[in-house]
Amino acid sequence: MPELNLILFGPPGAGKGTQAERLERDFQLPFISTGDMLRGNVKNETDLGKKAKQFMDAGDLVPDDLIVAMAGERLQHKDAQDGFILDGFPRTLEQAGALDKQLSGVGRRVTAALLIDVPDDDVIRRLSGRRMCVKSGHNYHVEFDPPKHEGVCDQDGSRLVQRDDDKPEVIENRLKVYHEQTEPLVEHYDEQGLMRRIDGTRPAAEVNDHIRAVIATLRLEEDV
Ligand code: AP5
Repeated sequence: MPELNLILFGPPGAGKGTQAERLERDFQLPFISTGDMLRGNVKNETDLGKKAKQFMDAGDLVPDDLIVAMAGERLQHKDAQDGFILDGFPRTLEQAGALDKQLSGVGRRVTAALLIDVPDDDVIRRLSGRRMCVKSGHNYHVEFDPPKHEGVCDQDGSRLVQRDDDKPEVIENRLKVYHEQTEPLVEHYDEQGLMRRIDGTRPAAEVNDHIRAVIATLRLEEDV
């Protein structure tokens, strides 16, 4: 079967993490989130984590050289050799160029970029109500996807907290950064015929159905 090298992108709070959790269960593809990797580094107080924290707390992007090195190394792991789903990378044109270069250097390429499209007003509602478990980062929403017991993760029983960068003033900056630095990637992947748009305003299960249908079509196209 041909490999699927997918990029999941969209504004903060579009539902990338929510969808990735479901896709990971449905497809035999490793899910690679630069946001999760960075949060792991911050938690473990690594050198990278110490450098990244100030940018993350402010809702700014972590510098390209740090991200390209971290993601590039992760993509060389054995589990990513037959396909992957990237979440939150690339996020700038420079990162997209570095990814293209790394993949083409080993005869590979991006199969498709899946844009989960959600307007700013929805993003603000979603991020301000999001809660995350301290143990494994499972996501909930106080209104749209509440846990069975308030403040407790359904999957591992750990405590649910609000992310530091989900404060209102930081959300505003994350949206600004997305529109200025990440949105130009839509044109980049459109020009290559790789962009697929998903309406992210639908309930999570419907968004998942749409993404699964897109992936099924891609598999057929790659087989041709
Ligand atoms: P990152 O962790 O990647 O954050 P993000 O892109 O801002 O995305 P989020 O994780 O906030 O949202 P999401 O789209 O995953 O939404 P979710 O599924 O949680 O990055 C964090 C920081 O790291 C960045 O700000 C930056 O500093 C740094 N960074 C990371 N990658 C970088 C890179 N490549 N370059 C430079 N810096 C980088 O859903 C949100 C909420 O909505 C949840 O509560 C969920 O339950 C709910 N929800 C989800 N889907 C639906 C739905 N369909 N309907 C209703 N509610 C829904």
